[in-house]
Amino acid sequence: MKKPWAGRFTVKTSRSVEDYTESISFDKRLWKYDIEGSIAHARMLSKQGIIPKRCGSRIVAGLREIYREIEEGRFRFSAELEDIHMNIEAALIRKVGDVGGMLHTARSRNDQVSLDLRLYLRASVREILVLLTDLETMLTDMAETMLGVIIPGYTHTQRAQPVLLSHHLMAYAQMFDRDRARLGDSLRRINVLPLGACALAGTSMPVDRQYVASLLGFDAVSENSMDSVADRDFALEFLSCAAVLMMHVSRIAEEIILWSSEEFGFIELSDAFTTGSSLMPQKKNPDVAELMRSKTGRVYGNLMSLLVIMKGLPLTYNRDMQEDKEAVFDTVDTVTATLSILPSMLKSMSFRIERMENSSDAAFSTATDIAEYLVKKGLPFRTAHEITGKIVRFCIDKGKRLQDLDISAYKSFSPRIEKDVFDVIDAAASVNAKKSYGGTSPQSVRAQIGRFRKRLK
Ligand code: ARG
Repeated sequence: MKKPWAGRFTVKTSRSVEDYTESISFDKRLWKYDIEGSIAHARMLSKQGIIPKRCGSRIVAGLREIYREIEEGRFRFSAELEDIHMNIEAALIRKVGDVGGMLHTARSRNDQVSLDLRLYLRASVREILVLLTDLETMLTDMAETMLGVIIPGYTHTQRAQPVLLSHHLMAYAQMFDRDRARLGDSLRRINVLPLGACALAGTSMPVDRQYVASLLGFDAVSENSMDSVADRDFALEFLSCAAVLMMHVSRIAEEIILWSSEEFGFIELSDAFTTGSSLMPQKKNPDVAELMRSKTGRVYGNLMSLLVIMKGLPLTYNRDMQEDKEAVFDTVDTVTATLSILPSMLKSMSFRIERMENSSDAAFSTATDIAEYLVKKGLPFRTAHEITGKIVRFCIDKGKRLQDLDISAYKSFSPRIEKDVFDVIDAAASVNAKKSYGGTSPQSVRAQIGRFRKRLK
């Protein structure tokens, strides 16, 4: 097949070079956006009188036919034609004749590829935002249903202080909400029209870029033609938002893995989200959560790839940039697939509430409450901390829990301790007392859920 740029060349490209340089094998998934962009461009060319109106109409009709052919799987993509842009342009010329050759007026593949990728990312980000909203809603619903259930809160993977399970769940809702905000904000930089920058310098043709932007729903038109074709920040920004988002996913996945272990025993995963072992008949493995944890790595890798591809590239477009797409596509696929199953996996877990609550009472998790109790009785926090430490040491030596000491034992550590100390050392009292804004008391968590729901709307 004759290449659109063949005019200047005398020797044919070798097969191996074609195979090495082609991008159609992966950029064909931009076809819809490529056609959408070309239709808008053709309409602008004809509105501006750059091409005759009837030619504009034939081009648009031809592109719509190609759209249907691809949609119905009747289109043959060819590696000889390198990429999606040339495949579609060549098909158009085959279909409508020389008129089709007018489409590429005042445009280059450099601004076209940026346009396609932006349109693709805009749609993908919008889809991801919906999935995030679903996930946040699911977590909030679950937090509401579980209000009252107490679990140990951890620091350093050591039991620290009792907290509400709902508070723990809402912590993830907050993370995913920041992801949604970040991605939503990235749309402002994604949704800028690069078309009209042409190869790098703009064009002598009387184009109307605002018109193309309005046809395609862009919020703005890029300001500098060189920057427009050299820029992949919008893709990098998406990849970095996705990396942080997947980091959050990996953390919830890790907790699901830990919590479903015999050692924690806080949850049981549904059979639908686990797999058995081919060797050990008793096993039920949290493979789905493990894969979520690991897929985070490939998303980080994609961000790193594109950062390295772009590093040190001189202005403007360089063919290196063709390698941006697989990183972006793989990230969209990974994030979309992960977010599509995470809510149902969470919904399907059953909580072993008794086990959670028993663990919250154990291991001196209310020692801080004794220290705060002593502060309320007038001691400086450091002194209170010291005394409480001694109480804990004493319990460890005697093999007792805080609840097991009697009042005279407590008094031997500080005369300020009264009977009411027993009101602060059980887990429920400890949790109920954390009434600070953003704290773990049922009252504070209910308020948090209320504010969160408003934001979700
Ligand atoms: N396939 C190319 C890419 O993905 C399209 C732009 C090619 N431009 C060029 N001047 N060779 O980046």
